[in-house]
Amino acid sequence: MRLCRLAVRGFRNLADLDRELPAAGVALLGANAQGKTSLLEAVYYPVLFRSFRGAPDQEVARFGGPGFRVEVQLEGGAVQELGATWTAVGRRKRVVVDGREPGRVAEAVGGWLAVSFLPDDVGLATGAAAERRGYLDRLLSLTDRRYLSALARYRAALAQRNSALRQGRPDLAQAFDAPLATAGAEIVGKRTAWAAHAADRFAAELECLGERAGTRLRYRGGEGLAERSAWDPALRAALPRDRARGTTTIGPHRDDLVLEVGGKALREFGSNGQQRGAAVALKLIELAGLRDARGTEPALLLDDVFAAFDRERQRRLAHRLLDTPERQVFLTAPRPDELPPGLVLPVWRVEAGKVIP
Ligand SMILES: Nc1ncnc2c1ncn2[C@@H]1O[C@H](COP(=O)(O)OP(=O)(O)OP(=O)(O)O)[C@@H](O)[C@H]1O
Ligand SMILES: [Mg+2]
Repeated sequence: MRLCRLAVRGFRNLADLDRELPAAGVALLGANAQGKTSLLEAVYYPVLFRSFRGAPDQEVARFGGPGFRVEVQLEGGAVQELGATWTAVGRRKRVVVDGREPGRVAEAVGGWLAVSFLPDDVGLATGAAAERRGYLDRLLSLTDRRYLSALARYRAALAQRNSALRQGRPDLAQAFDAPLATAGAEIVGKRTAWAAHAADRFAAELECLGERAGTRLRYRGGEGLAERSAWDPALRAALPRDRARGTTTIGPHRDDLVLEVGGKALREFGSNGQQRGAAVALKLIELAGLRDARGTEPALLLDDVFAAFDRERQRRLAHRLLDTPERQVFLTAPRPDELPPGLVLPVWRVEAGKVIP
C-alpha cells in the first residue's frame, strides 16, 4: 500500500504543502531542526490519528496556530482517502475516511499502515522490560483479536487484585485469581509461541545486517504459565510475597523478551550499533507481522537510523529496506554522506519547514 499524495496545514514547523509522493518513497535530507521528523510525523499521523512520538495534538499544531489538517491519498488498500483536522478551539479532532465521518476515531485506524523507527526506539534493545512487553502487546494485538481481548481482561483482573493486595485484603485479592489465570495463560501462550517463531527471523534479520556473532531471542516468563493449570499453585506459592509487596509478583506483566548477541545480553553488553541493529530487526519483524495480518505491505518510516552504523551495515540495511518493491520507505538523515551507498530513493530537501523535491 502506498501514499500517493500528502497535504498538510498548520503541522509543527512545516510550511503548508500539498504534494504527490514517489511510489518508492523518499529520503529527506536537511540540517537539524528543519522539519524532517515533522514531515515523517505528518506521514504517520493518519496511521493512528495521533503523533508517533505520543505528543498530544496541541503540541503537533503549529505554535500559536488555530489547529492542523492532514490529508492523504492512498493506493493499494481498501481506503483511498483519509483526513484529520484538529481544531485548537474546543480541542476537537475530526476524521474523515473516503468522505465519511466514522463514529469513533478508532474506526478509521487501519486505512493507512506504516511502521516507524524513531531514535528512541533503540530502547527496544536497551530499555526496561516494559518496552519489550509493549512491543509484544502491540504486535500481537494488531494481528490477533483474541490476544487483545485477553490483554484487556488480564489488565482489569490485575488492577483489581493489586488494589486488594494494597488494601491488605488477600481474601479479596484471591477472588481475581481465576480471571487473571485464564487470561494470563492465554497471553503467555501466545507470546511464547510468537517468540519461538520469531527467533529465527530475528537471527536472520541481524545476519542480513552483517552481525556475525550468533544471536538469540527468547521469552522469559514464569515457569509453565502458558498452562492454565500451572497458575493455581504458582499464585498460591507467590501469595506471601504478593502480600508483603502489595502487588502481584508473577504473570506476563513481569516477563521479558531476552535478546542476546554472542551469548551475552544485548541490553548490558551490546555495542551501540548492535543494539540499534537489534531494534531495527524487531521493527522489521513487526512490519512482516502487520503485512501478514493485513495482506498488504505497510510503509516503513525511519528517522535518523543510519548514523550509528558503519558503512558496511549501512549498505546492508539500505539493501534490506529496498528489497521489497511494494514497500514505500520514508527516511531522514542530516547529511548526504550519511545516506548509504546503494540507496536508490528520490532525495528531497527540508529547509525551514519547506519541502523541496
Ligand atoms: N508545534 C510546533 N510548531 C512549530 N514548530 C515546532 C513545533 N514543534 C516543534 N517545532 C520545531 O520544528 C523544528 C523542526 O523540528 P524537527 O524535529 O522536524 O527537526 P529535524 O529536521 O528532524 O531535525 P533533527 O535533524 O535535529 O532531528 C524544530 O525547531 C522544532 O522546535
Ligand atoms: Mg529529526
